[in-house]
Amino acid sequence: MLFTPLKAGALTLSNRMLMAPLTRARADLAHMPNDLMAEYYAQRASAGLIVTECTMIAPDTSAFVTEPGIYSPEQVTAWKKVTDAVHAKGGKIVMQIWHAGRAAHPLLNHGAVNVAPSAIAISGDIQTPSGKVPHAVPHALTTAEISTLVQAFASAAKHAIAAGFDGVEVHGANGYLIDQFLRDGSNQRTDMYGGTMENRARFLFEVLTAVCAAIGSERVGLRLSPLNSFNSMIDSDPLGLIAFLAERLNDFKLAYVHLMRADFFQQQTGDVMPVARANYKGVLIGNMGYSSDEAAAAILDKKLDAVAFGTGFLANPDLPARVRAGAVLNQPDQATFYTPGAKGYTDYPSMQAV
Ligand SMILES: Cc1cc2nc3c(=O)[nH]c(=O)nc-3n(C[C@H](O)[C@H](O)[C@H](O)COP(=O)(O)O)c2cc1C
Repeated sequence: MLFTPLKAGALTLSNRMLMAPLTRARADLAHMPNDLMAEYYAQRASAGLIVTECTMIAPDTSAFVTEPGIYSPEQVTAWKKVTDAVHAKGGKIVMQIWHAGRAAHPLLNHGAVNVAPSAIAISGDIQTPSGKVPHAVPHALTTAEISTLVQAFASAAKHAIAAGFDGVEVHGANGYLIDQFLRDGSNQRTDMYGGTMENRARFLFEVLTAVCAAIGSERVGLRLSPLNSFNSMIDSDPLGLIAFLAERLNDFKLAYVHLMRADFFQQQTGDVMPVARANYKGVLIGNMGYSSDEAAAAILDKKLDAVAFGTGFLANPDLPARVRAGAVLNQPDQATFYTPGAKGYTDYPSMQAV
């Protein structure tokens, strides 16, 4: 089942093993993509679809110091090398467009204040060039500022298409800005962007409307993680939230919805996949902790349409070929997830090289 093609909006995927978005922090302080990143993504071109690492839609919104951006003409030109390299190997690639919201920090952003629906900080520390510091209390966005950010998502999507991407994945997961609006632990607004689920989803829906108008809904995917407590996220009703969103997302005619099924820290539990499947009529991609066997069985049982593999693709550039051959998998090295250079990035061997 993993090797049957899949049509997802305008994208025809040659298999159902997708590469999940993976921040690797190999860009530079100016958030410019580079040749090493082109090599890394091209090595993984046999994925049915590559979703890039989360990519900044606006300057001075950094959360990882050296993550890439897509807000300047120079970045568009530099990303073209990445998309050309992937396409030359027959691959498909979408860009994960992202705003960190309260997960950004002034020390990473020339003093620019981080923003969020409400002035509630993430607990714990963030790594900055001057060492670890506590997360900053964000500025609660005004409605005018919210409108500006909606437009920033749309212009990032246009930039991504100009850079040769096959589409974009809107990052609505893992406690970043859109997710901060969605969940009631981080959104305590009393205006039209807070309170009811409808109000908390308003920012997401506005972003999707603008992005779909900019590049066509058949090239737009969305990632959600209603259970993940990463970045101090919590919600009083994650299953209700996913049921609501899944049903309402039908209206957008997206290429796909990409759902993380669990919590990195197992604090919030529940079975979100069946709820999403029951309410959402489009292409549903699952992620988090799937083995290839479980993924194949889930697709066969029509529980979902495809599975995204994160650490599997991180450590195995030729993951689909290995799974097909029943070959042993390389194990990911956590120590080099976010370190600069080729080590632990482009030097994982393919099957032939082992
Ligand atoms: C090093 C690393 C970086 C990640 N970066 C992102 C990211 O940029 N955007 C995102 O949505 N998820 C990110 N994730 C989460 C992964 O996409 C995925 O959900 C997670 O690895 C679980 O899937 P898996 O069990 O197949 O690895 C990251 C995970 C890891 C390990």
